[in-house]
Amino acid sequence: MKVCKSLFALCFSVLIVFLVVAPMASAAQDTGKKIVVGLSADFAPYEFRKNINGKDEIVGSDIEIAKRVAADMGAELQIQDIAFDSLLPALDSGRIDMIISGMTPTDERRQNVDFSDTYYISRQVIVTRAEDTTKFKTMESLKGAAIGVQRGSIQQDIAKGIEGAKLSPVDKVSDIMLQLESNRVDAAVMEGPVADGQVLNHPDLAITDIQIPDSDTPMAIAVQKGNTELLGQINKTLATLKANNEVDKFVNDAFKLNSGESTGETAEQIKDKPKPNIFQIFWDYRNYYWQGIQYTLFLSAMGVLFGFIIGLIVSLLRLSQISVFRWLAMTYIEILRGTPMLVQLLIIHYGIAQAFNINFTVLESGIITLSINSSAYLAEIFRAGIQGVDRGQTEAARSLGMSYGATMRHIIIPQAIKSVLPAIGNEFVVIIKESSIVSFIGVADLMFQAQAVRSITYSALSPLIIAAAIYFVMTFILSKLLGIVERRLSASDQR
Ligand code: ARG
Repeated sequence: MKVCKSLFALCFSVLIVFLVVAPMASAAQDTGKKIVVGLSADFAPYEFRKNINGKDEIVGSDIEIAKRVAADMGAELQIQDIAFDSLLPALDSGRIDMIISGMTPTDERRQNVDFSDTYYISRQVIVTRAEDTTKFKTMESLKGAAIGVQRGSIQQDIAKGIEGAKLSPVDKVSDIMLQLESNRVDAAVMEGPVADGQVLNHPDLAITDIQIPDSDTPMAIAVQKGNTELLGQINKTLATLKANNEVDKFVNDAFKLNSGESTGETAEQIKDKPKPNIFQIFWDYRNYYWQGIQYTLFLSAMGVLFGFIIGLIVSLLRLSQISVFRWLAMTYIEILRGTPMLVQLLIIHYGIAQAFNINFTVLESGIITLSINSSAYLAEIFRAGIQGVDRGQTEAARSLGMSYGATMRHIIIPQAIKSVLPAIGNEFVVIIKESSIVSFIGVADLMFQAQAVRSITYSALSPLIIAAAIYFVMTFILSKLLGIVERRLSASDQR
């Protein structure tokens, strides 16, 4: 009975968490016409995150363009912040309607998507540590250098063209700066206006005089191949914007917003401003972290809850007398335990969307992945628990005339669950940590928020340390709570 009670308590707490967090998650669901734009918000002044009056917002010149496109269509704009190299797959699978992310229309990309007219011409530059600008003066001087670029960008292609260059592709532009500062790379290929903003906030870095051949690169909006209707509407909006020179204005305003100049500071003042310390960062961005904690706890609780239910069923199949069931359960367990969770996540989120035309939201994909992944581990835990129950229990129950099902339900499973409760709790702790991978597809969990704070504050380490501390506190408290439950349970055994 005790076991049932604690199980009930567990489910109840999960429910509470659900009730608190669900409104937040479902707020995004709305009726009416909407248009979803995908972008990688690490690219100031074009698209970046900024703390505006204590609220996390995605801003930048591309956002202004997106707003105009949506307004002209009479649609509501929805923004999805996705890693740059996942944007094309996201568009291809229909998760987003268009990409506005400072994207250059290359021939290679044109094979998979259609591009709008050009809306802006950007240029490419080379950034190095300030003291190295004399060392790197020509393209030839970069021969054999270690070069940082954003994964999947044209900068990666440019760097590939440098003889003997050792490429180091990363997801976020802010990580490129980090690589430079920590001497992991010697130079980085970047978009000029982006580099301007970055060096302003990283006084130890500078833009070199190197002239990159064909360095002027256009930017355009991508839509799914053949979506001429949307493309037509986009081009119409772009034509008006360009006729009024509005895009340049958007870029200038966004640059000022990013550098802080819009608050009246000069470039010199920004450079000399002391860097905020870790406590300051935590306090300024506490809303980000708080939101991340809610998502992380919600995802983990859902993962364990569904993992529990699925795992129990799978373990019963695994122990079934019917060999087909046993075989199916075994395959399920082995495949899920034998492949990385990140791969499972991407298959569920992008693969399934494409193959079966089912579009899970990022949150749904996250919950599904965590649930099925942990169900495989929990199934094995349950099996061990069930097999660990003394055979005599079954024999006694059966000789009292109980059916196999009734024996399982009333005698074996309750004892098994009780004995594996600590292991289940452990799984919860593991899931809290592992759930951080969902940030990959854009779930706004704790890890995602930490990355966001990193790119807003230009601080590489502190936001991560804060996240680590929060993860630690959550798992520590949880293990202590589980310890108490466990002691209670064993005390009840002694009675
Ligand atoms: N223009 C470059 C490209 O198309 C880089 C764009 C990167 N955009 C971003 N939001 N990070 O590859």
